[in-house]
Amino acid sequence: MILSPSLLSADFARLADELAALKAAGVKWAHLDVMDGSFVPNITFGPPVIAAMRKTSDLFFDCHLMIDEPGRYIDEYAKAGADLICVHAEATNHLERTCQAIAQAGAKPAVALNPATSLEAVRYLLPQLSMVLIMSVNPGFGGQKFIPFCMDKVRELKAMIRQAGAETLIQVDGGVTLDNCAELVQAGADVLVSGSAFFGFPPYAERLRQFEARCL
Ligand code: DX5
Ligand code: ZN
Repeated sequence: MILSPSLLSADFARLADELAALKAAGVKWAHLDVMDGSFVPNITFGPPVIAAMRKTSDLFFDCHLMIDEPGRYIDEYAKAGADLICVHAEATNHLERTCQAIAQAGAKPAVALNPATSLEAVRYLLPQLSMVLIMSVNPGFGGQKFIPFCMDKVRELKAMIRQAGAETLIQVDGGVTLDNCAELVQAGADVLVSGSAFFGFPPYAERLRQFEARCL
């Protein structure tokens, strides 16, 4: 299990310090939530802030783009320092082309699915995807409750990936806590995003250890 803390719940006035604290705690990934106020009803940050963070940190930047028509901005996010770029299936008419553009830009391609979106949206893309993100809340805000049917979606996606003979990772984002992380990993999740259930409970090294201990 890889834990990818969502910086949405970090202190935005001290992003460099937060990244350094994650690194010191033994965290490997940082989940960066980009929101445009159109695809989702909230606005966060974009390429300039990610580029500034990149200068201070060598963590793996897992960039979750909650923006309309992400194909317009792939090169900018790759240049800013995104290691992985995750776009929403619902946000583009040309998902395959966008995934190709991500790989060409030198980042790992990933696709996110809103809770109500069918897994069929990614079936044929699995061999070319590093990761599929199962949203377990409706995207836009931290601190929401996990939607129970998403557990079945993780199981079904795991079976689909096996059937395809692909190595695609499964990430789960939204309402992940110490109470549901073990079941998620058993269902097939490889990467767990945690915002409020992580940043709300310092020290970070101890919180990471608690998540890892539950998911053995
Ligand atoms: C929500 C974001 C999440 C968010 C998760 O739209 O994509 O990454 O930070 O926050 P929690 O873990 O608090 O549900
Ligand atoms: Zn996210």
